[in-house]
Amino acid sequence: MEINHDLLILGSGLAGLRAAVEAARVSKDELDIAIISRVQLMRSHSVCAEGGTAAVMRPEDGDSLELHAWDTVRGSDFLADQDVVWLFVEQAPREIVQLDHWGIPWSRRPDGRINQRPFGGHSFDRAVFAEDKTGFFEMHTLYDTLQRYAKVPRYDECYATSIMIENGVFQGVTLWNLATGEFFIIRGKALVIATGGACRMYGFTTYSFTATGDGMAMAYRAGIPLKDMEFVQFHPTGLIPSGILITEGARGEGGYLKNNKGERFMDKYAPTKMETAPRDIISRAETTEMLEGRGFTSPEGMGYVNLDLTHLGAQKINERLPLIREVTIKFAFLDPIEKPIPIRPAAHYCMGGIHTNIEGATPVKGIWAGGEAACVSLHGANRLGSNSTAECLVWGKITGEKAAKYAMAQKSLPAVPQKKLQDEENRVFKQIGQGDGSEDVYIIRTELQQMMDSNAGVYRTGPQMEEALKKIKELKQRIKRVKVKDTSRVYNTNLVNVIETTNLIELAETIVAGGLARKESRGAHSRRDFPNRDDANWEKHTLAHYTPEGPKLDYSAVTMTMWKPVERKY
Ligand code: FUM
Repeated sequence: MEINHDLLILGSGLAGLRAAVEAARVSKDELDIAIISRVQLMRSHSVCAEGGTAAVMRPEDGDSLELHAWDTVRGSDFLADQDVVWLFVEQAPREIVQLDHWGIPWSRRPDGRINQRPFGGHSFDRAVFAEDKTGFFEMHTLYDTLQRYAKVPRYDECYATSIMIENGVFQGVTLWNLATGEFFIIRGKALVIATGGACRMYGFTTYSFTATGDGMAMAYRAGIPLKDMEFVQFHPTGLIPSGILITEGARGEGGYLKNNKGERFMDKYAPTKMETAPRDIISRAETTEMLEGRGFTSPEGMGYVNLDLTHLGAQKINERLPLIREVTIKFAFLDPIEKPIPIRPAAHYCMGGIHTNIEGATPVKGIWAGGEAACVSLHGANRLGSNSTAECLVWGKITGEKAAKYAMAQKSLPAVPQKKLQDEENRVFKQIGQGDGSEDVYIIRTELQQMMDSNAGVYRTGPQMEEALKKIKELKQRIKRVKVKDTSRVYNTNLVNVIETTNLIELAETIVAGGLARKESRGAHSRRDFPNRDDANWEKHTLAHYTPEGPKLDYSAVTMTMWKPVERKY
């Protein structure tokens, strides 16, 4: 089966919905735009974003675009492209106001103005928020706004298996409708990939189960390089034992991090910023505290430290952090009004992603990428909290507009030979998961996650990453021996698991290969065997190109416009 639309938006989180709204708006409803999602649209992982969206809203009180840009560049450990950062800080406030006009219930100050809270690494209270459910309200606002436009059909619960490209030009996306079992292609003139990140390759993570990096993996296999994949962010406060996010807003509102001696240990690691230092620094501090015996151990045997909110009082917790209270009661069985919350670093965000230029355009004609799936080079080696939802909005808008204009300028849809579709259908249903049955995909996935947790975590070393690469090569072979016993095409979650795990293994290889090659410590890539930043040799982006044997790496320059690298201290 073949379906045609002008513009495809792959992924229905914040970046995807913002792109869809913008494309519908600039094309004045003339383009036929399809939103494709592997889940029901409002179950996208973006609804889990909690703490806030960074933007300069109060220049009269001392904030400025320069300050936001400097915080972001310094936070990135000087790997962000500075022209990209500037575009971002300029556009972010407009997005906040735009969402306000579209009806989002931003939390307000007593004088009625939009409120902002402190977030890590920002030198001004800059995170605009809607309680501690910011992503949820942003998603609803965009979804409501989308209802104004007639031509935006949805393909919910459709799992994409490949991105088709011919001679450097986008052709279409192959989809498996999980609810009906149909397999088909949607041809399109343009595509925006907004499928999110890939941290489900880690065991302890804040990610939803469905955030498995499929868009990144499909783009990579189709020949689009991935950039800066070795930089994985560990959020300092993943709830024990599940990994559910405890927002940085909890520290922004005044929460303390404490070790087993009751000490606020951040004074040793970032004395001026304390609990609102950037994430890479806090995650290293927590890990050091635990390794040096100043942590606790949970009944499940997990090391942790405490996030103490008890001094904030019931009123503040109920007003500013109601979700955190609810989640802690339901998943850790304690009330943060009365007791500290057990937390530790959790895999949270991929700074790397699909290589794009400043406008979110990939090297393939007709394909853009936005949000966490993309690496537009905004975050460099370490992202500041609340810059990601802002990035989704800014580059959702930019990519939606650019892709729509491109699609409007194309006269016809590219042709896709029937055989190409047939080959892909055979690959999905007749090759993947058709091994001898001597392996189990769930065991392979667990081994991948355990290995990534131990060998590519907050701290890494060369030997650990060499061992990780060996394990990845082994898992790549073993997954070919998995046999999917379910022969149905309807909600065959067993087969979906094999495809996801194959994707995660391939992406893990880019993280580890990039990390092994990068012989320095920068931002979230912290090597015990190379503890210092090495600007002379490593002030550059990593590009991983797909080959069946593993990633082929090369490098590209970082764009510096305003600031030269200096020592990063907080
Ligand atoms: O802590 C948080 O609320 C997460 C925000 C972010 O990742 O930007």
